[in-house]
Amino acid sequence: MVWRINILTLFPEMFPGPLGQTLAGRAFEKGLWSFNAVNIRDFAEDKHKTVDDTPFGGGAGMVMRADIIEKALLSLPRTTRKIYMSPRGRVLNQRLVEEFSQTDGITILCGRYEGVDQRILDAYDFEEISIGDYVLSGGEPAAMILMDACIRLLPGVMGNEETPSEESFSAGADGLLEYPHYTRPAEWVTADGRQFSVPDILRSGDHGKVAKWRKEQSAQLTTARRPDLLK
Ligand code: ADE
Repeated sequence: MVWRINILTLFPEMFPGPLGQTLAGRAFEKGLWSFNAVNIRDFAEDKHKTVDDTPFGGGAGMVMRADIIEKALLSLPRTTRKIYMSPRGRVLNQRLVEEFSQTDGITILCGRYEGVDQRILDAYDFEEISIGDYVLSGGEPAAMILMDACIRLLPGVMGNEETPSEESFSAGADGLLEYPHYTRPAEWVTADGRQFSVPDILRSGDHGKVAKWRKEQSAQLTTARRPDLLK
């Protein structure tokens, strides 16, 4: 099954962008996901192709018009779960990503300027999703992050890479941060002469001890960096 992404944006040429490369790009070529980036401006009706206007009540900035976004939305042959990227939304996490990746696709609205008229969100039941407590200049990079996180979970996308249930934050895992990884050379000397070795236990060949060490590392890291995850 093809996971379908619709994107409503003023910058359709930004897509697929980085998602055309690496893992997501290979999955795209295999036909595991597809996208349709619709330019909201194509639905403007005046000769200047205006998509925004000043806010009622005054204040700085411009607001994207509900009627024009609606036309873009209704032009889609089929809409899937509707998401508006916004720093005001529910903060994205791996559980939500898993949920989205198990649907048949998503429809993402990307805002610019001060945002969009609230009525488009209310009238069409958009879920607001944030990628973290900071503000971007537009929803497009946030949409790409959401897309990347979902695409890598689609069936057939991951090859030899780690199975998602083993990683940090996955609902199927122990909920701890990942242990540190090492590869050759076992002894590494930096350009300025400092020596770094791989922990001996990882070279011992004792799988039981390695597993125990990794668990301990995960627990220590989580305690130090993200005690909130232990609850
Ligand atoms: N648009 C602007 N900032 C954002 C954020 N933090 N998350 C999602 N969309 C955004």
